[in-house]
Amino acid sequence: MRTGYALLLSLAPLIPVSARAHFTIKDSYVGHSFFDAWNWESLDDPTHGRVNYVDQGFAIAQNLSYATDSKFVMRADDFNTVGQGDRGRNSVRISSKNAYDESIIVLDLQHMPEGCSTWPAFWSLSQRGPWPHGGEIDYIEGVNLATQNLASLHTTPQCTMPQTRLQSGNPTSLDCDANVNYNQGCGVSFAKPASYGTPFNAEGGGFFAIVRTKRDGVRIWFWSRNEATVPPEIRNPPSSQGGFLLGGGNDEIYPTDSWGTPEAVFPLGKDASCDYDSHFDPHALVFDLTFCGDWAGSAYPTSGCGGNCNDFVDNNPSAFSDAYWEINSLRIYTPS
Ligand SMILES: *[C@@H]1O[C@H](CO)[C@@H](O)[C@H](O)[C@H]1NC(C)=O
Repeated sequence: MRTGYALLLSLAPLIPVSARAHFTIKDSYVGHSFFDAWNWESLDDPTHGRVNYVDQGFAIAQNLSYATDSKFVMRADDFNTVGQGDRGRNSVRISSKNAYDESIIVLDLQHMPEGCSTWPAFWSLSQRGPWPHGGEIDYIEGVNLATQNLASLHTTPQCTMPQTRLQSGNPTSLDCDANVNYNQGCGVSFAKPASYGTPFNAEGGGFFAIVRTKRDGVRIWFWSRNEATVPPEIRNPPSSQGGFLLGGGNDEIYPTDSWGTPEAVFPLGKDASCDYDSHFDPHALVFDLTFCGDWAGSAYPTSGCGGNCNDFVDNNPSAFSDAYWEINSLRIYTPS
């Protein structure tokens, strides 16, 4: 035993530093921990949605936010109509108190909000700002009856993406500057089936892994829950008890060949046409769910949903029973 240990130590310096780069679990959000570690933001929706973001007390009282030891659910109100003078349909927007720079984010998501007028997003933005300083990264986003996820960056000027990248998804726009194209940002539409909306939920959701480094930029992988190729370190969180991580097999993580090709890649390294340090700083993470507004509203007439978007939101509470996030776990790993 002693000899073996000594041998390992003596070999260690021969392993190149890059091959040893790894990320260690920093924060693990499961069930009730969202209530302590995230802020419920009751602001006016900056994207002009027909939404009334409620505070934590109201969200708990109305069961719009709900947790068990192993689940966290946040949903739209699906029982009240909305009055003309009201701000909009009750819903929830939360942001993490902690901010993260270089990191690996693994989200095990059982269900995402779906349906006409909905615009859910899991994204991150600079804690310092003001927006778009420090950048915005959208990991999960779509509107109305979409079935494919869109990931994008929104930045200050001089940040563009190449048309050709080693990714499965398809670029929808290449200029990340929030001041051009009406803040369209630079997007990539996922190619794998069941990455968003009704088909995502029909499969019992899936896993998103986001790797954000200065060297390689932002890379996003997605696996539907029933795919045989979900890497075990993605499927199985590190063990924890009473809020303390026990370590074990999966407390470290790094993308390997077994992860396959990312759905979306946003190069931000030394040779990229978008420089990491001048466009990105530590980000808070956000889950939200708005209705209509700048994107879902403007896309509504061609979405396959009938009538007027705001009227639909106001008058059809039961249409929002599938407008909810159900999170199994969200893990953040940072460089070590
Ligand atoms: C609150 O919401 C959860 C998740 O949707 C559900 O399982 C639970 O039954 C609800 N509780 C009440 C009191 O309605």
